Amino acid sequence: MLTVALPKGRLGSKVYKLLEKSGYACPEMDDDTRKLVLENKDAGVRYLLVKPTDVPVYVERGVADVGIAGKDILEESEAQVYELMDLGFGKCRMAVAAPQGYVENPDRTLRVATKFVKIASTHFAKKGRNIDIINLHGSIELAPIVGLSDVIVDIVESGSTLRENNLVVIEEFMPISARFFANVSSYKFNETEINKMLQCLKEAIDD
Ligand code: PRP
Repeated sequence: MLTVALPKGRLGSKVYKLLEKSGYACPEMDDDTRKLVLENKDAGVRYLLVKPTDVPVYVERGVADVGIAGKDILEESEAQVYELMDLGFGKCRMAVAAPQGYVENPDRTLRVATKFVKIASTHFAKKGRNIDIINLHGSIELAPIVGLSDVIVDIVESGSTLRENNLVVIEEFMPISARFFANVSSYKFNETEINKMLQCLKEAIDD
């Protein structure tokens, strides 16, 4: 039996539909369920329904054999896992954005609001730019509007949140999509089962 850490929410329902199509359906799964562990013994699969940002934690620590999360979440977690496949959906970009007309002063520390503290720190460290990170957990676009930060680092999908708040992209630096990944030792011990799931996912995507 393979244990899969599945993100709850928007990405999760797309991911589950793909797993269902790949032969890993679970009759108990429906949008209203409050259960957090669901299994289908016949299909040899058990699902753990977790917050998207927690998926890499469950997989890295081995309570789940495999998991699916966005590349943004995977990078930010710095989890040591095997990334096995790009599922090709959940596409967006990591970007630096600022209010329209913003001009950077290179002599001042740049104030950066973000949920992605590690990604943002690494990005600006590569440029040798001094920054002050303001760690927020949502509505990031508000920060530069009210003067809490100079810029933001956040994901951009349709671009409508930026547009509606008069912000513009200054730089895009990380293409993002959903990734399928495995726990390192679990991949050694359950290679056949994990590769079978990988193959079924590939076929369902190509179908
Ligand atoms: C995410 C992200 C942006 C928005 C980008 O927020 O943080 O705000 O989506 O999407 P768009 O380019 O299609 O507008 P989310 O909906 O997760 O809400 P949050 O404010 O709680 O982070």
